[in-house]
Amino acid sequence: MSAEPLEIHLAAGDVARALREDVRAGLTARPMWLPPKWLYDARGSELFEQITRLPEYYPTRAERAVLVERAARVAELTDAKTLIELGSGSSEKTRLLLDALSRHGTLGTFVPLDVSVSALRQSTADIAAAYPRLRVRGIVGDFTRHLDRLPAGGRRLVAFLGGTVGNLLPAERAAFLAAMRAALETGDWLLLGTDLVKDPAVVVPAYDDAAGVTAEFNRNVLRVLNRELGADFVPEDFAHVAHWDREQEWIEMRLRATRPMRVRVLDLTVDFAAGQELRTEVSAKFRPAGVAAELAAAGFATEACWTDPGGLFGVSLARAE
Ligand code: SAH
Ligand code: TRP
Repeated sequence: MSAEPLEIHLAAGDVARALREDVRAGLTARPMWLPPKWLYDARGSELFEQITRLPEYYPTRAERAVLVERAARVAELTDAKTLIELGSGSSEKTRLLLDALSRHGTLGTFVPLDVSVSALRQSTADIAAAYPRLRVRGIVGDFTRHLDRLPAGGRRLVAFLGGTVGNLLPAERAAFLAAMRAALETGDWLLLGTDLVKDPAVVVPAYDDAAGVTAEFNRNVLRVLNRELGADFVPEDFAHVAHWDREQEWIEMRLRATRPMRVRVLDLTVDFAAGQELRTEVSAKFRPAGVAAELAAAGFATEACWTDPGGLFGVSLARAE
């Protein structure tokens, strides 16, 4: 079957309004911040794919290693008929789950959900071509807002990979897990990928690569603001910063003004002093016991938490109780 037309839950007008609200809130706050979802326009999604292939960016390879080892077990434990994937991007690693569930004989439908229309268009076409018997229903949506729109019924498995759950702040994460549980029936499953706490000498380069791809990715959010809101940021004059916060155990991505700048965006005039920073994303690192505790608080029982041989990345399989 070819992929079904994308289901759009993010109307252009809503997106434009949400962007304006986020920019107004974030750029008038001190310290300044922007929510990470605005990093992912077509170019942002393409840059993220390049990040996944960088030598320093271990999470993708480590998570893939776990899935290679455990996908068959996931199929056996879940008997899933529908695989839903949040923040699906290219769905590359997800093929390991699609293969295992197809082999297991239960899978009928794949439902990738992402804010990035371009990524979803590409991934649904590629997956439908590679899995001709699978029903592929892509949803353009926001996983912080649209979990109540997921297809209902029948042995669902929700995959949330890539450590993307770590891009939510702790309160947002708790709200996300609770909403996720509310959207599921008892007995449905969640497969959650989490990057693990480790030596900052390994983590930091993954977010500050030698080739400068992550820096380009980070600065891309300023290009989005220039294009969508007519802002006049000079992206080249912001330096990429990846700061390890040892208390919070997260990486904080920032853009640092390299000279004093006055930027106009919406009806705001935003003055940057030289060295002033804007936070664009956090990427939290987890401990297995912490993941299980957060899942339990939201109403999930952890069935397994697997790691790759290097112990870099965790994948938890949890059942809605
Ligand atoms: N799952 C893929 C991609 C991870 S990158 C992997 O493991 O490699 C994060 C993905 O989440 C991107 O595709 C981005 O477009 C998407 N995303 C970010 N914020 C989102 C949100 N609020 N709602 C839906 N998708 C989001
Ligand atoms: N989910 C990815 C992560 O936390 C997203 C990501 C990777 C990212 N590299 C980045 C986000 C650089 C912003 C900047 O690992």
